[in-house]
Amino acid sequence: MFRTIDSFNVRGKRVLVRADLNVPAADGVVTDTTRIERSAATLIDLARRGARVILVSHFGRPKAADPAFSLKLLVEPLSQALGQPVRWVDDCIGRATQRAVASLRDGEVALLENLRFYPGEEANDPAFARELAALADLYVDDAFSCSHRAHASIEAVAHLLPSAAGRLMQAELEALGKALEKPEKPVAAIVGGSKISTKLDLLGNLVAKVDYLIIGGGMANTFLFAEGKPVGASLCERDLADTARAILEKARAAQCHVVLPVDVVVADKLAPGAETEVVGIDAVPEGKMILDAGPASAETIIDRLGGCNTLVWNGPLGAFEVAPFDAATNAVARWVAERTGQGRLLSVAGGGDTVSALDKAGVVDQLSYVSTAGGAFLEWLEGKTLPGVAALGGAA
Ligand code: 3PG
Repeated sequence: MFRTIDSFNVRGKRVLVRADLNVPAADGVVTDTTRIERSAATLIDLARRGARVILVSHFGRPKAADPAFSLKLLVEPLSQALGQPVRWVDDCIGRATQRAVASLRDGEVALLENLRFYPGEEANDPAFARELAALADLYVDDAFSCSHRAHASIEAVAHLLPSAAGRLMQAELEALGKALEKPEKPVAAIVGGSKISTKLDLLGNLVAKVDYLIIGGGMANTFLFAEGKPVGASLCERDLADTARAILEKARAAQCHVVLPVDVVVADKLAPGAETEVVGIDAVPEGKMILDAGPASAETIIDRLGGCNTLVWNGPLGAFEVAPFDAATNAVARWVAERTGQGRLLSVAGGGDTVSALDKAGVVDQLSYVSTAGGAFLEWLEGKTLPGVAALGGAA
């Protein structure tokens, strides 16, 4: 069980908040403010309660101090999201930083420079963590999407100060807990994406936890191939056929029903307006590529989901970036959104492509919870212990 910021009396206290402000940006301008907006709740709450907020994050993957990776570009959008000016501090440790932090008044927020300008951050260096801890009285971790990193601002520092989960961290852990740790059964997982090689641990963990494992995207082709089906010129990891068969075997032993496509959309190439054809999985023509699950597959998926109370979704069902290969993903996403809206399904989704696919289907705000995390969400689906969560005292 973890503590939340409600357990802290923060008035007049210096509170170090680790957020994930690793936002998409181009030419020095933030192009998607979702992570800023999702981080705002904790910062507003702490500032209103009179805390002196010291906000830290990484941005990109610099190996040393590099102006191209400065967090300064966030001062403006953050000030807007918080409705108050955010002070900029152009370092994250050292004397000047200590002086800047010491001059903060109750309710003020300061943003410090990119943590990854110091190698001690990624090395989880205790000395670097002590420097960060020296800035503050309390520590709040609001960066679930960085929880898979045992970095100093996430792991080591949590052991040096009284620590709590911020609002976003709390929401993520509660939603994920409901979806997979203590779910209302039956539970389904939709796993899509192009390759099974990147999701082997995830598939292995899920078959032991869910009642239905719905497989889509390019990775379904490897399973179809493993079952002796023709896959034409489709993306397919032929060398992993044995692995796919082992996953199917493990699923059978665990009484997890694996749902594979029953029909598919094929084309000569992945291009907008390509000539398409819907074929049964026994009839994929040589030279053609499977680019989406077919309409009968989408119906089957919806039928199986109709008997479920909980859904975890990672990965699209087809090459959703290019219409019309987004049809199956859109149909299932819209049904899931509607069912969730009726209060008949708890739906949790995460992972970069999944969020874009749901956004494209126009339903990203209509699921029970959409995680801001990419890698951390995947590692959580793999059943791994996330160092950032463990450092706070474990999951919900
Ligand atoms: C993310 O964008 O998934 C997190 O900010 C983690 O970033 P990283 O993969 O560079 O550690």
